[in-house]
Amino acid sequence: MGPFWRSAPLALHLPAHGRGRALAPALRRLLRQPPGSWDLPELPGFGGPLEPEGTVAEAQGRAAALLGAERCWFGVNGASGLLQAALLALGPSGSRVLLPRNLHRSLLHGCVLGGIEPLLYDLPSDPLTGLWQPPQPERLERVLAAASDGGSPPAALVLVDPTYQGLVADLPALVALAHRAGLPVLVDQAHGGGEALGAGADLVVLSVQKSGTGLAQSAALLAQGDRVAPEAIERALLWLQTSSPSALLLASTAAALEHGASDAGRRQRHRAEARAARLRSRLEDLGLPLVANGDPLRLVLATAPLGINGLEADTWMLQRGAIAELPEPGALTFCLGLNPPRGLERRLPRLLQDLRRALGGQPLPSFTAPPLPLLAAPELPIGVAWRSPAEAVPLERAAGRVAAAPICPYPPGIPLLVPGERIDAARADWLQGQRRLWPGQIADTVSVVVGS
Ligand SMILES: Cc1ncc(COP(=O)(O)O)c(C=O)c1O
Repeated sequence: MGPFWRSAPLALHLPAHGRGRALAPALRRLLRQPPGSWDLPELPGFGGPLEPEGTVAEAQGRAAALLGAERCWFGVNGASGLLQAALLALGPSGSRVLLPRNLHRSLLHGCVLGGIEPLLYDLPSDPLTGLWQPPQPERLERVLAAASDGGSPPAALVLVDPTYQGLVADLPALVALAHRAGLPVLVDQAHGGGEALGAGADLVVLSVQKSGTGLAQSAALLAQGDRVAPEAIERALLWLQTSSPSALLLASTAAALEHGASDAGRRQRHRAEARAARLRSRLEDLGLPLVANGDPLRLVLATAPLGINGLEADTWMLQRGAIAELPEPGALTFCLGLNPPRGLERRLPRLLQDLRRALGGQPLPSFTAPPLPLLAAPELPIGVAWRSPAEAVPLERAAGRVAAAPICPYPPGIPLLVPGERIDAARADWLQGQRRLWPGQIADTVSVVVGS
């Protein structure tokens, strides 16, 4: 990736196994077998995620027990696929589900597939970095009150915790509020390790490559309690799951979850976190602004206070051989992984100081919070809008029109505009501002429903 790199790239991106350095021993052993010898179909005795017996069922049972769940299903289409199945299990066609504005786009796709109406609740955003913040219990209380005010009551609440940048909420308080309102809770823990179960969540989805050591697409859906029927989950999995789940990815999920809960896995994480803590304090000593978060292995540089857009910082770092995970206008997130690369402590502080010298300046202006109501549903059903005849109009002429497609910089894959939403003047203005902040990621036109 670029002949100008003087040394091997400093890879600070996902998957968290770090180019194989942190893979679970059982998966390493499997991969030493002749290639393809492990690529099995759902043979009797081996089974699959929906089979009641066999190796996969046993591994799912062990994973559930290790993580404190009652049931566990492995998935081979990432957290994306399992979030969709979970959503379809929670909300019958025509129902309304409370979804946070920082939702991953896969949940929107789930709404289309299930004929579910997204009731989108707004979140605070940090003016220094522009990052969405987790909701406070007091805000969720207002959201729940607003949701019970008119329209059919929502079928469920979805939370994202931790966020991509490792920001964490007071989950026990949030889950308790939802349960008191009679709602089951799905927590998107793509970036977490199942801690939401301890907070009382009914369904939890893990992306096992993001905070564990699985291969990409390894994922798990965990369930507890009696608010969501296992039969509804299995039916939704059947609708969405391939009939030939990859044995490699199932093995990767099982091995990563078991390793993560083992003594060796805990020691591995502990070592990585100790290195991350030392690195963090070194960077802070150098006066580099880091976002306070709950995941020591996610290092988030607040680039805006340095006067640098995170996307520009990312390009600059890439040209010098450092690959970050997530560039955003006000921040750059590095994923250190469960066995951070050698030379990290030497190279990253130097690079970040050089970055500050090369591109730094006056802090960027504060980020404007998106002009969104506390709670809003798209005016047109999302699936109808997304499949309607559409036309592209310049953003500055989009006010008053209904969006036919999302605006969704990727990563992080969080939509700034959802199909079916009517774009008001304030939103159109804000989107134009976002376009300047995400250079090359947002087109100067928006797709709107013809005749809207
Ligand atoms: C919050 C969140 N949920 C879900 C996903 C999807 O995970 P996967 O890539 O495993 O499908 C992502 C991916 O970035 C994410 O950030």
